Amino acid sequence: MTRPDRITRPDRTTRPLPGVEDDAATPGLPPNPHGLNLAASWYIALSSRELHRRPRALELFDLPLVAWRDGIGRPVIMPRHCPHMGASLALGKVVDGSLRCPFHHWQFDASGTCTAIPGVDRIPATARRRPYPTVERYGFVWVWYGGGEPAFDLPDFPALEDDRGDYVGFRFSDASRGTTRQLLENAIDYFHFMTLHGLEMNPVRFEQLHDQADARDNGRAIAEDAWFGVRVDGTVDTWNPVTNPAKWVYSVVTTFGIGTRFKLLVDGWPGGQRFTTYIDDQEISKVLMGITPTGAHRTTQRGWALVKKGNKDWKTFLYFLLFYAQNRGGTRQDIPIYDTTATGGNPTYVRYDSTLVKYRRYYQSWVDRVDADPVRPGGAT
Ligand code: FES
Ligand SMILES: [Fe+2]
Repeated sequence: MTRPDRITRPDRTTRPLPGVEDDAATPGLPPNPHGLNLAASWYIALSSRELHRRPRALELFDLPLVAWRDGIGRPVIMPRHCPHMGASLALGKVVDGSLRCPFHHWQFDASGTCTAIPGVDRIPATARRRPYPTVERYGFVWVWYGGGEPAFDLPDFPALEDDRGDYVGFRFSDASRGTTRQLLENAIDYFHFMTLHGLEMNPVRFEQLHDQADARDNGRAIAEDAWFGVRVDGTVDTWNPVTNPAKWVYSVVTTFGIGTRFKLLVDGWPGGQRFTTYIDDQEISKVLMGITPTGAHRTTQRGWALVKKGNKDWKTFLYFLLFYAQNRGGTRQDIPIYDTTATGGNPTYVRYDSTLVKYRRYYQSWVDRVDADPVRPGGAT
């Protein structure tokens, strides 16, 4: 086991650091809509393949929403209940590219405007349900939460675009009772790689990135104020397969048996992250992850886990299996922790939490950007 004091010296005077709130709302500021402490951001709403022409009920941000596709197949996500008598539009039907309420057949177009009311000539101005901005990319429908127009473009992920032929992988979807921020912090809290996951590295270096050029393997630059990046760089301990078979297996799964120098590059925006992993400077995998906040302590982490193809089919297959075991195994260790971690109160931070504390400040700055009007979270009326 890598000794903690060889990585960094824990701060002996443990004390709360000022200026950081835990998952509770920030005192003195208007309450975040529905108290979820969510950052303004792009989030994965659902998989593209889960959304057909038929409208479907969707729970996001602790709000009842409806998702449907308009006449040309574009996804629309808007408040679920009809402005007339509150019927669920998820029971409605898409007719001529508009969503028709099942109750009295009012129709709403893709901008949420009511375009027809049977038996009535004049359409009231309040007969609308303003949709959330959406983008469909990488097999997911992404939704902007925070009010108004998106403050930044959805970050890209070249491994699922131009470079798609270089990778094989799988989609994942893991439900948790953790908060969105907790699940995002999984990649920032590097110390738990060694303690919870048993990734024994010595020496190990962890640093926050300050220049997006250092994260360009992950994708194109993200709007500067929405970006947060870190890098972990370490030498994985090697083990004797006879005397320490379990640790040997774990280190081989981690390094693919290619080498011992492990590097992980993470960058992201307030609702998601991109990862690239290297062994001895050879890229081995990429991950795109979006966290979907459905309600208070109801979260789904979704995305793509991709492994770089080897120069032989059998190597590609082997890398896929190893990466699958690594990814799923890690998630199986993480989720029970996040499902049961208490939030709120003042955490006691130590020195190795310093980047995490910066992450929390960054995250909170995007929570504070959310339109605080509880009637119109995400710009919905
Ligand atoms: S409740 Fe939707 S049209 Fe009446
Ligand atoms: Fe983890």
